[in-house]
Amino acid sequence: MLGYGTVGSGVVEILRENAELIEKRAGEKIQVKSVLDLRDFPGDPVQDIIVHDFEEIRNDSEVQIVVETMGGLHPAYEFVKASLESGKSVCTSNKALVAAYGPELLKLAEEKNVNFLFEASVGGGIPIIRPLKVSLAPDEILGISGILNGTTNYILTEMAENGSDFDSVLKDAQEKGYAEKDPTADVEGYDACRKIAILTSLAYGKQLDFEDIYTEGITKITDRDIQYAKELGAKIKIFGSSKKVGDKVSAMVAPKLITASHPLYSVDGVFNSILVTGNMVGDVMFYGQGAGKLATASAVVSDVIDEAKHTAINMKTLWEPEKLALMPMEEVASRFFVRIHGRKEEAAELAERAFGKVLSVEAGFEDEFGFVTEEMTEGAFEKAAGEVDIINRIRFD
Ligand code: HSE
Repeated sequence: MLGYGTVGSGVVEILRENAELIEKRAGEKIQVKSVLDLRDFPGDPVQDIIVHDFEEIRNDSEVQIVVETMGGLHPAYEFVKASLESGKSVCTSNKALVAAYGPELLKLAEEKNVNFLFEASVGGGIPIIRPLKVSLAPDEILGISGILNGTTNYILTEMAENGSDFDSVLKDAQEKGYAEKDPTADVEGYDACRKIAILTSLAYGKQLDFEDIYTEGITKITDRDIQYAKELGAKIKIFGSSKKVGDKVSAMVAPKLITASHPLYSVDGVFNSILVTGNMVGDVMFYGQGAGKLATASAVVSDVIDEAKHTAINMKTLWEPEKLALMPMEEVASRFFVRIHGRKEEAAELAERAFGKVLSVEAGFEDEFGFVTEEMTEGAFEKAAGEVDIINRIRFD
């Protein structure tokens, strides 16, 4: 084990608690030989197997599987690479590592006839990587829509249910330990962006760089937006989504409006959910805890068991380093909910002139006008938006 933090200690706990059934399912006993951490853990079950030097694990020929739960890119990347090079299988919960180095580490695992698995890197405890690779292998994937971040789903749910504003919900979530002290990666959508990059790369077998995905967080969503959403019979959720359009794929992370007919409408609070559409199977949906010690550790242990069952057999994962052809953002089409400054009559006239036919939404605010556009491309939207004084806009999914 590399790293004995929240997830790492959860992995040890599951391997101990469920040892008997895990042994039966894996076909052999799985034992934790060493745990690498900078700290010592006196009184903890792992106190006698803590090591502080990675070389002890790399050079230990008894170690067949390395579990990386350190997080961060470095030295996680170097340790994972060295482990694979030494002929050990690796599993990781580290989405940053997988999003950045997935194809390289998979190729190395294939060369060494071992495995590199990362079920816990997306959706915490939700089985999504293995289903995408194995269960949905017969299908062409037409689209993926995911509520991939628990922190932001919790914040948006609280804002909608209690009418609170973004800053106070965030503060409350931090106090309760739901949100990180530095919540940037969650609230700006960077966390969801890496997750949709991984899922989309796996769905199409080519590399989608997370830097190329249009990403918008939830920091601009206000209580007024929520009020309008209610008038529309909708909820605002932040989605990581990708879709096959001809021979290209569109991908983005952004807050979206969804109505009650949307399969992800009732996914609230800290829960995550992913809707995948295959060209044969149709819609399939995955739901569960996207974070948390035992949920995430359960996904890691599922990889450990899979690797124990596949020693000296590489389970091929199609994810080439070649770049996935991404549709230019200006060509992506949606319907938009828009709020503009101005009093109703004049603003409505301006809106129609700029956007064509629009549907007005009344939420009782005198100083602004809210409306929904027909489906239009991002390029056309930007052009029309230049002609009015926009307060905010949110896409429909
Ligand atoms: N910060 C993430 C979330 C945790 O809120 O969903 C797992 O990536």
